[in-house]
Amino acid sequence: MPYYRRIGEIPPKRHTQFRQPDGSLYAEELMGQEGFSSDSSLLYHRYLPTAIVAAEEYDPPAWSRLPNRPLKPRHFRTHKLDGGGDAILGRQHLLANDDCRVSYVVADRPSSLYRNAIGDECLYVEAGRARIESTFGVLDVGEGDYVVIPTSVIYRILPVDGPVRMLAIEATGHIGPPKRYLSVRGQFLEHSPYCERDLRGPTEPLTVDESDVDVYVQHRRGWTRMTYAHHPFDVVGWDGCLYPWAFSIHDFEPITGRVHQPPPVHQTFQGPNFVICSFVPRKVDYHPLAIPVPYNHHNTDSDEMLFYTGGNYEARRGSGIEQGSISLHPGGFTHGPQPGAPERAIGVDYFDELAVMVDTFRPLDLCEPALSCEDTGYAWTWAQRSNPPGGVDPSTG
Ligand SMILES: [Fe+2]
Repeated sequence: MPYYRRIGEIPPKRHTQFRQPDGSLYAEELMGQEGFSSDSSLLYHRYLPTAIVAAEEYDPPAWSRLPNRPLKPRHFRTHKLDGGGDAILGRQHLLANDDCRVSYVVADRPSSLYRNAIGDECLYVEAGRARIESTFGVLDVGEGDYVVIPTSVIYRILPVDGPVRMLAIEATGHIGPPKRYLSVRGQFLEHSPYCERDLRGPTEPLTVDESDVDVYVQHRRGWTRMTYAHHPFDVVGWDGCLYPWAFSIHDFEPITGRVHQPPPVHQTFQGPNFVICSFVPRKVDYHPLAIPVPYNHHNTDSDEMLFYTGGNYEARRGSGIEQGSISLHPGGFTHGPQPGAPERAIGVDYFDELAVMVDTFRPLDLCEPALSCEDTGYAWTWAQRSNPPGGVDPSTG
């Protein structure tokens, strides 16, 4: 994240003496990416951020990946999944490859403290509200918010006034705005669909006085429960360009045209070998002969996952897609609007749709929770059949 922020108390010069009221030094910590060659922040702790008193292996809920075989388009109904649990350990993994993992959770209780040492996380709030607390401070989030948590930030998620529904995209690298929307110095350019004014970061430090505090660390070789001598939320000030931040999908300004615009105009973030796009309510194509829904397309190098999070998704009408649905259109399969959608769309000037798309360059495998909520008849809906020839699909919706 290139946008510089400064919160709380920090010394005027970095790496110099900065003393607590009792005369002792604050403990300075640099959190930085790509070997001191990219974004970083300097944090000032009351206690040593290195002081741990225990480390134990932790077994997270088991999960597995199955290849998308036979290859076919898929439809998963996330609202059929059991809810409950917290927003981190309760995540139900749906789709994954070596670059990212997509999960869904209906969280009804506060999470433990957590650190993802593998990569950045992008959380999308489908419904409900939450308070996200981290070493950098607090982010209050609600329906439509994306939250980007940089690698290794210690944080926790607390639902506010009831359960919160979230889609979690965990990367094996860094997630940020598309490079083409940034100047060489990192400022959002005029053609970007959002800019610095739309971003929210922590506004003040958050400190908690506790000792012997557990942090669940997901790292490149498994999970470990580390116990810190003092609560990690002991930062009195920080500055820099690396911190958790939030951006509402409702602040994404759609790019429209006379004829149908390709998905890259919806791109909101980039990650390692994947992109995240936002489909938001917008005026649609206004050429006198325009067909506002997408043309059939085959993005030969990508798998495409779409999470339907609001409105009516015109191109998918008749497919069984509903609020909370996820479609997966893999490479090797041409996809497009449902039969009749192009004719119905002619003359329409506004789409009230809200969806989050993840396009990956490597194929997405299927995880067990996704299979448990799959609408297995989806693949045949373009042919307007409910069952494959000669067979019965018992779970066809
Ligand atoms: Fe597509």
